[in-house]
Amino acid sequence: MPDTGNIPSFDMRRNYARVEGEIKEALDRVLSSAQFILGPEVAAFENEAAGYLETRRAVSTASGTDALLLALMALGVKPGDEVITTPFSFFATASCVSRLGARIVFADVEPDSYNISMERAREAATERTRAFIPVHLFGQMCSLEEITEFMASRNIAVAEDCAQAFGAHRTRGGAIARAGVWGDMGCFSFFPTKNLGAFGDAGMISCASDALADRVAKLRAHGSSSSYLHDEVGVNSRMDAIQAAILRVRLRHVETWAEERRNVARRYNLLFAERDLYEHVTPPAETDGNRHTYHQYVVRAKRRDELSAFMSERGIATRVYYPLALHLQPCFAYLGYGKGDFPVAEKLTGEVLALPMFPELTMPEQERVVGAMAEFYRS
Ligand SMILES: Cc1ncc(COP(=O)(O)O)c(C=O)c1O
Repeated sequence: MPDTGNIPSFDMRRNYARVEGEIKEALDRVLSSAQFILGPEVAAFENEAAGYLETRRAVSTASGTDALLLALMALGVKPGDEVITTPFSFFATASCVSRLGARIVFADVEPDSYNISMERAREAATERTRAFIPVHLFGQMCSLEEITEFMASRNIAVAEDCAQAFGAHRTRGGAIARAGVWGDMGCFSFFPTKNLGAFGDAGMISCASDALADRVAKLRAHGSSSSYLHDEVGVNSRMDAIQAAILRVRLRHVETWAEERRNVARRYNLLFAERDLYEHVTPPAETDGNRHTYHQYVVRAKRRDELSAFMSERGIATRVYYPLALHLQPCFAYLGYGKGDFPVAEKLTGEVLALPMFPELTMPEQERVVGAMAEFYRS
């Protein structure tokens, strides 16, 4: 790879070049089958994904947003219910709750992992709480071991938001347990830039029981279990066979790519030390027992906005996930939250910066990224 020119946040083309032959073969198979929505290709992907995750069943959806919505529908979340989640996430984590007329109850995050604080989540539980959505942000799992028992003892369902965490895991009782198998359901996004990405929108729900999987499968097809008979009102949220075929190919490589991302993260950490940057930049913490899959490599940086502009002038892309905490979004003003309610999340919105991160990112490119940061902090 050249060591001049722009460095993107994510480069799909480099990844595609590694699997182009396999993908074209898979696409050919779907085109000649002439079966484009659900069907055997989608069923095969669901089985393979369930096998990888070691979950009971996996049911695909049209997007990660729909996965969250359908999970809450299947759990029976309704107006008047409360759902606890993090204010530091992508919009869809919270919007699925309000779309069902339930009340979003936010709980603040931890400064090091950026994930929701289990203590704050516990404190937020009331007798109206129906579900808890922990988000495994940026590719690192929340520490769910105790909270799942606590929530179960209160009859509160756990729907993990695994949109950014396909392949992440924690150790539990000496064995690994992947994101998506800790709660009642795990909601995945296969948006193209995700660690397991399709070539369009796609999503999936991992389900701990057949009953939940059957219910989601019905709800994603207009609430219908047999042709033109509708037991309830569902939505249209089915996976395309083309996306399933692509995902089946990419699933075979997802472990290699996760390890490559971890190498990229290790190299960043070393380069920060080499350049004496730790005083200005705090790298993401990998908490005990976790395999972080670095969907994003997000640092906390002093003078973040100036740094980002400086990098951009040098052709290095950086991103801010997320510039505004969810409780301060105009559409959620009706909830009555205000500035200062979730101080950790609010502070993070002013400090976080995602550096270029993808499996194929080269050492010379990373040296340029960190070199530019060193130059900025020297100035
Ligand atoms: C944490 C989180 N939740 C939910 C979603 C929604 O997924 P999708 O874009 O596939 O609808 C995303 C996607 O960006 C996400 O990052």
